[in-house]
Amino acid sequence: MIKHMNEDVKKAITSRRSVRKFLSTEISKDVIEDILTVSARAPSGTNIQPWNVHVLLGESKSKVCKASCDAFYDPKIEKKNERIHYMEDFREPYLARRRKVGWDLYALLNIKKGDYEKTKSFHVQNFNFFNAPVGLIFTIEKDLGWMSWLDYGMFIQNICVAARAYGLDTCPQAAWGQMHKVISPILNIEDGHIIHCGMSLGYEDKNADVNKLKTVREDLNTFTQFHE
Ligand SMILES: Cc1cc2nc3c(=O)[nH]c(=O)nc-3n(C[C@H](O)[C@H](O)[C@H](O)COP(=O)(O)O)c2cc1C
Repeated sequence: MIKHMNEDVKKAITSRRSVRKFLSTEISKDVIEDILTVSARAPSGTNIQPWNVHVLLGESKSKVCKASCDAFYDPKIEKKNERIHYMEDFREPYLARRRKVGWDLYALLNIKKGDYEKTKSFHVQNFNFFNAPVGLIFTIEKDLGWMSWLDYGMFIQNICVAARAYGLDTCPQAAWGQMHKVISPILNIEDGHIIHCGMSLGYEDKNADVNKLKTVREDLNTFTQFHE
């Protein structure tokens, strides 16, 4: 007989998705602390716990957002990730999956192919944390290897899922990696740390078209082989 998965756990995982327009409704510090404390139960190889979180609220968040949005539009400011985030030359099957989510998103936003102005004005919203009341910046020490980046992913996923337990939504954002030089002095990010990524946290704006995006996943058989 099949034993069914606990519905609350399943719902927390499957209702998580990336939200790209938030309500400005504030979130109490207690809730943020609870989400982060629970999320830090994530496993990490030899329990080294490689995460460091900068929680941005109010004025501090506005300052970081302003500097980053200005930098985004300033061609003189170098915006480069210190590490390759994905792949240097995309190939299949990753290219098709990546294109699909991009076109689905742009269709919802009515952005036509080649409309660079509109594309940019959407991209810059990353640096406003999509209007979320809470912005998270995750840093990692540069000399930690890829296993620690894997650990970090588990911590970040826990935040996304734990947020659901409060009815909150999230968007993990690799985009923040480009802003290392811009925001390090503002947040006093220590030498030797790099920005792993950022995250928006808040209540979804259910009226926003951008939040109607429904992403797909490959079928179990495409990524799983049973050996019995
Ligand atoms: C590590 C990571 C980085 C991401 N960076 C961005 C980003 O910079 N901007 C953005 O809008 N979405 C970003 N996303 C969201 C992905 O586009 C999204 O997870 C993917 O399309 C699947 O959709 P879903 O999260 O709604 O299930 C990121 C997700 C992850 C896990």
